[in-house]
Amino acid sequence: MNNTPVIAIDGPSGSGKGTICKLLAQTLGYHLLDSGSLYRLVALAAEHHGVSMENERALADIAAHLDVQFLTSTEGDKVLLEGEDVSLAIRTETVGMNASRVASLTLVRKALEGRQRAFSEMPGLVADGRDMGTVIFPQACIKVFLTASAEERAKRRYKQLKSKGLNASLADILVDIQQRDDRDQNRSVAPLKPAADAVQIDCTHMGIDEVEQKVMTLIRNRGL
Ligand code: DC
Repeated sequence: MNNTPVIAIDGPSGSGKGTICKLLAQTLGYHLLDSGSLYRLVALAAEHHGVSMENERALADIAAHLDVQFLTSTEGDKVLLEGEDVSLAIRTETVGMNASRVASLTLVRKALEGRQRAFSEMPGLVADGRDMGTVIFPQACIKVFLTASAEERAKRRYKQLKSKGLNASLADILVDIQQRDDRDQNRSVAPLKPAADAVQIDCTHMGIDEVEQKVMTLIRNRGL
C-alpha cells in the first residue's frame, strides 16, 4: 500500500459516478480509474474469443491477460482492446449486462485487483466502481457512495446512450438496471454496498454541479 491519496466513489449503475469522477480527476489533476470498464472489457474479450460467461477459469485468464490501453487526447478518450478501438462497443447494454455477470465471479475479481491498485499513483487517484472503498482501496481518504432512484438512473442512462448515437429503450433500460442492481448487491463476493466510513449522497434530485461541489467540499475539508 502506498501513500497516494485515493478518492473512492462507489454506487449503482447510472448514478452519475462516471461523470463526477471525470470532473473530479480533471479539477484535482488526479489519475482516473473507471473500474467498470475493466469488467466490460473482460466481457467483450470473452465474446470476441468465444468464451462462455459460465467458464470462470477461462474468464479469469482473460482478465489476468487483458491487453488494454487507455488513451487520453484532446479529441477524447479511447479504450483499445488488443489494439482495436472498443470505446463505444464496451458501452452497450449487452456488454454491461455481461460485465455484471463476469463481475460476480471471484476469480475474475481477484485477477483484476492488482491492475486496479496499479492506478494509484501520485499525485492521486479518483476511483469509480462498486467496491473501491470496501475492497480495492480500503485506505481511501475520501469515500462516497452515490445513489439515485432506479427510474432516475434509467432516464440518465437513456439520454447518455442516445447522445452517443446508440439504440435504446427506456423501459428495457429500467428492467436492465433493476436486474443489474440485484446482481451487484446480492453477489457473495465484493457486493455493492457503502463502506462503513462512506458519505452517502442521494442525487435523485441533484444536478451534476451540485454533486461535484458537495464532493469537492469533502475533499477540501481533508486538506487535499
Ligand atoms: O460501472 P459500469 O456500469 O461500467 O460497470 C459494469 C459492471 O461491472 C456493473 O454491472 C458491475 C460491475 N462492476 C463491479 O462489480 N465492480 C466494480 N468495481 C465496477 C463494476
